[in-house]
Amino acid sequence: MALEKVRDLLCAAQKANTSVIAFDACDYNTIYACIKGAEVARRPVIVMLYPTMRSVFSFGAFAATVKDLAKSASVPVGLHLDHCSELPIIIEAIRDGFTSVMADGSAMPLEENIAFTKSVVDVAKIFDVDVEGEIGHVGQVAGGFDYQNADTFTRPDEAAVFAGRTGVASMAVAFGSCHGMYKAEPNLDLERLQEIDKAVDVPLVLHGGSGIPADQLEKAFQMGINKFNVGTEFFLLNTKLCKEAYTSEELLKNPFAGITSIRKGLTEYIAKKLELCEMKV
Ligand code: 13P
Repeated sequence: MALEKVRDLLCAAQKANTSVIAFDACDYNTIYACIKGAEVARRPVIVMLYPTMRSVFSFGAFAATVKDLAKSASVPVGLHLDHCSELPIIIEAIRDGFTSVMADGSAMPLEENIAFTKSVVDVAKIFDVDVEGEIGHVGQVAGGFDYQNADTFTRPDEAAVFAGRTGVASMAVAFGSCHGMYKAEPNLDLERLQEIDKAVDVPLVLHGGSGIPADQLEKAFQMGINKFNVGTEFFLLNTKLCKEAYTSEELLKNPFAGITSIRKGLTEYIAKKLELCEMKV
């Protein structure tokens, strides 16, 4: 199966009233586990890269790796550039093979966010690349962001204006989530999500997926979330598995044993997480 368009995966999820799950990856093992885990779970998957990670895994090499593994995968696979607020970097990613990008202007005032996101959509359209925007702001736990403060949540009227004026294919929205490991259990404002969903037609995206309880996710998926992003929890598991693998005496006999155990642990995690998606393929 070749790489699928993220927009097609999200539209299918919207019709099925569920969410595709997207994971940030950083190396061959994490990409491999996303795709193998999706095959085990029989679910579609989206593999994402943070633009800052291009110093360790170039855009071109990352995109080529995902495409290469997608070719022989038995489930649909999407490729996406996560959070980017700089047009030249987004253009670089598109040039190097990314078929979907996030234009993150969420820290900008509304008009500036609209202008920036629209400029990305205008360029992306030429190359048939999908754009995810963000309205409202999902911050970072590490930066002290108050994710329970409703003033930071997406306003349905602004979401409608944003979608209409930018032409984004999907839209990340804020209703109580935050990037990183939560200090206190999140309590998603599902009423706000429903109001946003009523105001716009484009698929909605939930960021800050690590540590959100499954019951809240199930409801959010039914109430309009069609793409769900997970990063921190996957990276922390990768670190733990690497630490265990590379301190094992076994490596002295078989230097490659670590790779197998790391991939196995990551693949199991992905397959389990993907069960939250109701779209079995
Ligand atoms: P977490 O790192 O909190 O899982 O969030 C990931 C994310 O939203 C990436 O866009």
